Amino acid sequence: MELWKGRFQKALDPKTNDFNSSISVDSRMYKEDIEGSIAHATMLGEAGIIEKSESEKICAGLEQIKADIASGALLIDPNAEDIHTFVEGELTARIGDAGKRLHTARSRNDQVALDVRLTLRKECASLIEQIKELLHVLCDQAEEYADTVMPGYTHLQRAQPITFGHHLLAYAEMFLRDIGRLEDAVKRMDVCPLGSGALAGTTYPLDRDLSAKLLGFSQVSRNSLDGVADRDFCAEIAAAISLAMVHLSRFSEEVILWCSWEFKFIELDDAFSTGSSIMPQKKNPDITELIRGKSGRVFGDLMTLLTMMKGLPLAYNKDMQEDKEAVFDAVDTLRLCLTPFIPMLKTMRVLKENMRSAAARGFINATDCADYLVAAKGLPFRDAYKITGQLVAICIERGLTLETLPLEEYKKVCEAFDDGVYTAINLEKCVNDRKVRGGPAPENVRAAAKEVRALLG
Ligand code: ARG
Repeated sequence: MELWKGRFQKALDPKTNDFNSSISVDSRMYKEDIEGSIAHATMLGEAGIIEKSESEKICAGLEQIKADIASGALLIDPNAEDIHTFVEGELTARIGDAGKRLHTARSRNDQVALDVRLTLRKECASLIEQIKELLHVLCDQAEEYADTVMPGYTHLQRAQPITFGHHLLAYAEMFLRDIGRLEDAVKRMDVCPLGSGALAGTTYPLDRDLSAKLLGFSQVSRNSLDGVADRDFCAEIAAAISLAMVHLSRFSEEVILWCSWEFKFIELDDAFSTGSSIMPQKKNPDITELIRGKSGRVFGDLMTLLTMMKGLPLAYNKDMQEDKEAVFDAVDTLRLCLTPFIPMLKTMRVLKENMRSAAARGFINATDCADYLVAAKGLPFRDAYKITGQLVAICIERGLTLETLPLEEYKKVCEAFDDGVYTAINLEKCVNDRKVRGGPAPENVRAAAKEVRALLG
């Protein structure tokens, strides 16, 4: 159907029609488009703008179309300009004249601004659920490995002892913030644009509050130009998803490192690993590499949205049709990545012994050795730091660790040392004593996992 038949003498050139059409992307919004139209038609009937009987006929026709698309009885025409045009055309074909009244006091500009909001509201809710599932797995694992000692790193150099549970809960914090950002974006998106019309509102006496209420919005937009020209919510959601991808990508990078022979901290289940076509020994963490790679396309989606919007004069411009492909790709990519990532994490084998022996090398208790001189012997920290540095240099030279360095060697560097140093630098003790709020001690990890769970509701 050509909406603008009256003004034009020719149909759109077929290839240009393909170029102009958004149906391949926006047909996924058919339910939301129809639900929006049902609300609009109901309001038109209630406000006396169209006959109640016509409104009822429109709503019944739309319900039927929705059911037929869902069942596959009605196929969406790939040549339609967009989902709005297709549904309206189908409605008129089915119910005749009443169908032609649906678009009274509405434009596709406020219609599409509504549909994208309704779609993203659902998508964000389902992404939040999926992230919560990941958080539950992280809490389970954190509890299980609350006292698994491993080296913590800075600059990818062994730094200080932590627990694996603590490391996992660092990611829990990131994903909690991701949920918060998505929730925030959804809150700001909770504004119904219907009634903005093409750009300048309408002269019909609409009951905008009713349409908003029927669609579950808490507010209506205050400015008709902004109502149709705003796509901040797409950019906000893509930005929130981009950060979630940053977190998944960093996590993936660590999983990749941990799977290497160099670390061997974990082993992934066969169901979440791949082999090589030539090297029979290989077991590759492809899933995580693909997630790390896919983060790039999501950042691209965000750039697409920002760049697409930055030069647009008010109000609607066709450039904005590009919004959906970008924001839906961001949504779909995050969902796609979380889907294997969650069970992969759930089924990974944690090689505690390897973590423990990595922790035993690398002098990660050097800070604790210095702290011992401060706490037990009253030295200023800077002196204690220097003495410990000298001890580490001696150990490296002799192929020893702080645990195996004899007490007389300690005493040669600083008379104050006694046997107590060995207790002070015991890795388990070093970790257990880090019970400052936010620290890696096992009791902290268990409490933190509980707190995170409570936040998930
Ligand atoms: N397919 C269009 C989009 O996605 C719908 C709005 C079209 N409005 C217009 N004035 N051409 O943005």
